[in-house]
Amino acid sequence: MWFQQLSASVILAAALLLVSPVYASVSIVDLLSSSPDFTLVVRVLQRTGLIPVLNMGRNITFFAPTNSVLEKIPSSVDLPKLLEYLIITDPVISTELEDQSRVFFSHLRSPSAPDFPVPIKVRLVQSRPGEPSNSAGKRLIVGTASVVRHDWIADNGVIQVVDSLVDIPDSLCHGLSRLAGTSGPTQFFAQLFVQHPWICILLAESEDTATALVPANSAFGSFSPIELNYLMSAGGHDDRLKLIGEHFLYSPLYRQNDTTGFGNDYPLLSGNIIHAAATDNGRIRFNNEVDTVETDILFQNGVMHTLPNLVIPWTYFAFSPLKYLYGIHAVKFAEELLFHGYRSTLVDAQIHQTIFAPIDSDGSDSPTSERTLSYHFVDYPILKLTEGVIPSRLQPLLMNRYHQRVKITSSNGVMYANDNSRILREPVMIGNTAIVPIDRPLELPPKLRFAAGTIEKGSTMMTFLRELDFFDDADLRGWTIFFPNDDAWASLGSVTKYFKKRPEIARQLLLSLMITQPVYSEDFTSDISGFETAFGSRIGIKGDKNHETVIFVSLVTKTETEIPLAASDMLFESGVIQTIGAVPIPEYIEITPRQLLDAEDINIFVDLLEATDLPADTGVLNDESSYIILAPVDMALKYREVTPVTLNLATQLGLHILRRRNLHSGRFIDGASSFDSIVPDLTMMLSKSRDTEKYTLSIYSRELMRETFFSIRILSMGLTSAGAEIYVVDTVLPMLLVPSENRSWWQRHGILVALGAAAGIIVISMISLGGFWIIYQGGRNWNRHRSIVDNFKNIVQFRQGVNGDFIGSSLLSSDDSDSDSNDADDEEEAVGEGTPFLRQASGTLGSRVTGEEETDDEIEEAEHVEMSSGR
Ligand SMILES: *[C@@H]1O[C@H](CO)[C@@H](O)[C@H](O)[C@H]1NC(C)=O
Ligand SMILES: *[C@@H]1O[C@H](CO)[C@@H](O)[C@H](O)[C@H]1NC(C)=O
Repeated sequence: MWFQQLSASVILAAALLLVSPVYASVSIVDLLSSSPDFTLVVRVLQRTGLIPVLNMGRNITFFAPTNSVLEKIPSSVDLPKLLEYLIITDPVISTELEDQSRVFFSHLRSPSAPDFPVPIKVRLVQSRPGEPSNSAGKRLIVGTASVVRHDWIADNGVIQVVDSLVDIPDSLCHGLSRLAGTSGPTQFFAQLFVQHPWICILLAESEDTATALVPANSAFGSFSPIELNYLMSAGGHDDRLKLIGEHFLYSPLYRQNDTTGFGNDYPLLSGNIIHAAATDNGRIRFNNEVDTVETDILFQNGVMHTLPNLVIPWTYFAFSPLKYLYGIHAVKFAEELLFHGYRSTLVDAQIHQTIFAPIDSDGSDSPTSERTLSYHFVDYPILKLTEGVIPSRLQPLLMNRYHQRVKITSSNGVMYANDNSRILREPVMIGNTAIVPIDRPLELPPKLRFAAGTIEKGSTMMTFLRELDFFDDADLRGWTIFFPNDDAWASLGSVTKYFKKRPEIARQLLLSLMITQPVYSEDFTSDISGFETAFGSRIGIKGDKNHETVIFVSLVTKTETEIPLAASDMLFESGVIQTIGAVPIPEYIEITPRQLLDAEDINIFVDLLEATDLPADTGVLNDESSYIILAPVDMALKYREVTPVTLNLATQLGLHILRRRNLHSGRFIDGASSFDSIVPDLTMMLSKSRDTEKYTLSIYSRELMRETFFSIRILSMGLTSAGAEIYVVDTVLPMLLVPSENRSWWQRHGILVALGAAAGIIVISMISLGGFWIIYQGGRNWNRHRSIVDNFKNIVQFRQGVNGDFIGSSLLSSDDSDSDSNDADDEEEAVGEGTPFLRQASGTLGSRVTGEEETDDEIEEAEHVEMSSGR
């Protein structure tokens, strides 16, 4: 007010001056020169030609440093510039300042925008006692300097004496990049900004000035780390520019630009409009909602305000799956997808899907084909990953257009997709899309041969698949293969040998283990589902909820077969493998005893059987009933010289055939119950010998009330379709306990007594003529068939000792000798005593010819003390 009046009078004086050139006045320079405190300043002003500047206008303000200030300034400082900066072309009078803070413009021009006067900020604050103050008890702050003497009025302006020089502000761009390098509260926006240096180049080229509205780091608090990563990433280029554009004006906007308090609209760099109004508490309010935190931070070519929030809402960025891919650093993958035309499914967050997103890594190849890319998509969002198989979007021809799956497994708390891709974190949701970051691209399931090759204990099935050409089977599309492991095949014993010998049957079996559609463990429910096998039959399958077993249900007989599921859902290129712990043999593959015996190379036993009427009478070879057959290996029969002309051949063979009393009596090998031989009166029971691989066979004669034990080895076994059990044994059972009347057992089955007698005569002649020969042969074969002989040595009679142990002695040993020496054995053979076995044979003959007593004596002699009697 006062100043305006003064100015008015100055104008008047100036007008008068035109009339009267002898007018004299006191200028700023005059005042400074009159004081000893400013001699240094005046000297510098004179030297640098700034005196005319101070004298050029009528409304000059000079923030004048005293000598004491300048004395401290090092000579390196550009003093003329700093002094020029303190010359303001507007009047700054403390008593007239309306605002607490105001931006004035220096006479100094900005080097980056030569038309633009460098701004300087002047604040009016309350003086505390002892501090310099104006008449109203307030004091001025100029930039970083304090005014120590206020409002020293000259005719052409005013002097404010300051206690220090004021640094010339930085350029806006330089200031922002300095912020980006700090860990300050506005670092994040600054970092976004400096990624676009062309904005600064443009600013410099247009010699323009600008305003930056700088949101504090906390303004990004509502963004997820992935969204922030995205904004920072190369893929976030466009959104970053938009964000900057919404926070940048191509002209300086100070609080004081709003003179009315109602605000004005200003154009942003983005082209949008922002509304800015000065608030009563010294801030600027943008768009009626965001107040500045720090206001009017000055730069030589611009101004900056900091904001607590963005001036645009979060939704402005329309975050999409694509942006999230950039945000998780899956840039290569994202670009691959864009290249292959996936844009539409990536920009729409409303699409229900899951994306397995391999993040960028140096070494790994990114997926390149359309096929492998679609394998990374699932058509629904997975909110939480659990172990199992997930249908991918990929529906290859090889899978017969079924969805190829992705297998999720967990190991030591880490989850993997298809075993090779580590899942880096829980799914990230964006809209309806779940993104699962993985450390490398998903590998498509391998070809069958490679998938099967990795199965533990899978070699038997591998052999079948290879030999039956399934590895190259082009028809194998979208199939399920039930893949019995080696244990399962081994437990089939002779049956497996049978399949190995008969590829065409094995093929049928394998086809019955294949289902013409992919079936995963999750499909095995408590309800029976019907499936078509590759053989063309139908099968029902159900499962338990723990996926530990599958139950095959015959749709014909409704019988259920429970099968342990060893390893489920092993994916391969054209289907899935379910590893199982048993081999389910379908009804239409009928396995007879004859086939198993054939598979085991049991030839002599079968030939001998066929020389009798036994097969015809009992159907034992064809499984018309379920028998237990103890089939001696060829070698044993040869050694025992059992031939078609052996006396009582049918009885001898019949000893090896047991009959079940009922269907629930269990397996013979389990030793749980005894079984009747088809030779009347005899029952047999098997038990595992202690500490050996051998079994003890007990033969009990009801009539004689006697039980005899034999050590036998079971070399192999198998089960036929009808439940007959085949055991390949190393020895021929002796006629030891066969009562004499039963030795004509076969006669009662229609064989003539005469024929029996004839056979008897033949045997008599054999004994008399060839007895020594037999023994001789036996001796000769001794070394050749060591193993067999070893087994014979182990035909041991046991009695149960008081302490429960078995005590045994070799039947090959002499009665009073327990010698294990082969020499001793040979000797015995040589002297013609023979084994009890052979003596038994002769005893049999004897009994037929000379009567029972002798037989009993013989048996008594053979068994001597080792007999246990009566059960
Ligand atoms: C000086 O400033 C006053 C008030 O700001 C103004 O009215 C006057 O015109 C100015 N004089 C000159 C010569 O610029
Ligand atoms: C604010 O006012 C200054 C003059 O004080 C002017 O140069 C600038 O252009 C104005 N800002 C805007 C955004 O209009």
